Amino acid sequence: MIEILTTPEVARARETGRLVAEILQSLTSRCGVGTNLLEIDRWTAQMIADAGARSCYVDYEPSFGRGPFGHHICTAVNDAVLHGKPHDRVLADGDLLTLDLAVSLGGVAADAAVSVIVGASRPAESVAMIRATESALQAGIAAARPGARIGDLSHAIGSVLGAAGYSINTDFGGHGIGSQMHQDPAVPNTGRPGRGLTLRPGLLLALEPWVMADTDQLVTDPDGWTLRSATGCRTAHSEHTIAITDDGAEILTLPGH
Ligand code: MF3
Ligand code: CO
Repeated sequence: MIEILTTPEVARARETGRLVAEILQSLTSRCGVGTNLLEIDRWTAQMIADAGARSCYVDYEPSFGRGPFGHHICTAVNDAVLHGKPHDRVLADGDLLTLDLAVSLGGVAADAAVSVIVGASRPAESVAMIRATESALQAGIAAARPGARIGDLSHAIGSVLGAAGYSINTDFGGHGIGSQMHQDPAVPNTGRPGRGLTLRPGLLLALEPWVMADTDQLVTDPDGWTLRSATGCRTAHSEHTIAITDDGAEILTLPGH
């Protein structure tokens, strides 16, 4: 089912989006060499509770994970890219960390992800990969407006990732969002322009380009959740929740928005 939000519901989504962005911003500023992934999960749980919001992850039990996720945030390091389950691991200089967070506030969910490099070193491959997912995300957002079709967004995202030299795994991509975190329509990270659902004001989408340095194959960690690159190479992921407006799209997952 495609959910179209009313103007007051979009206003509530804006609040949720701002909260997600502000939690991610706080976490990225607190994370550094020596931070444990389980600490990140605890900080997140506290901030969600302080805001009177609800985690979309703790009880989440989709077909692609084993049992309820049981944590408040996805923490994916280096070869881990999606659904990174927080565990007892300490961050080191040069680690590529992806934080992916979805919460629900006032009955509306928002979802965002950011990749950062821990510490002072700036491995060129990691910098390039993060830049590619961020550029692809911006291209997808730029293509989003009433009358555009899902395939236009997918094509915009996939063109940037492809031009940067990455092959695209289409098992996981963006999605509709609203009263639930994961809803129709699917927004694949590559596709053909002019195909798929036509966008309308009030539709909320989570766009989430992600890449792996030298493969498009994933393997599942023994934890039953964390998805890693099959070759052990590094990975990156960027995500925003956007609302289709009367004349374009608004990024909801920005701080102080
Ligand atoms: N927020 C993720 C996404 O971008 C989904 C994470 S599901 C979890 O769609 F259960 F792993 F948290
Ligand atoms: Co998402």
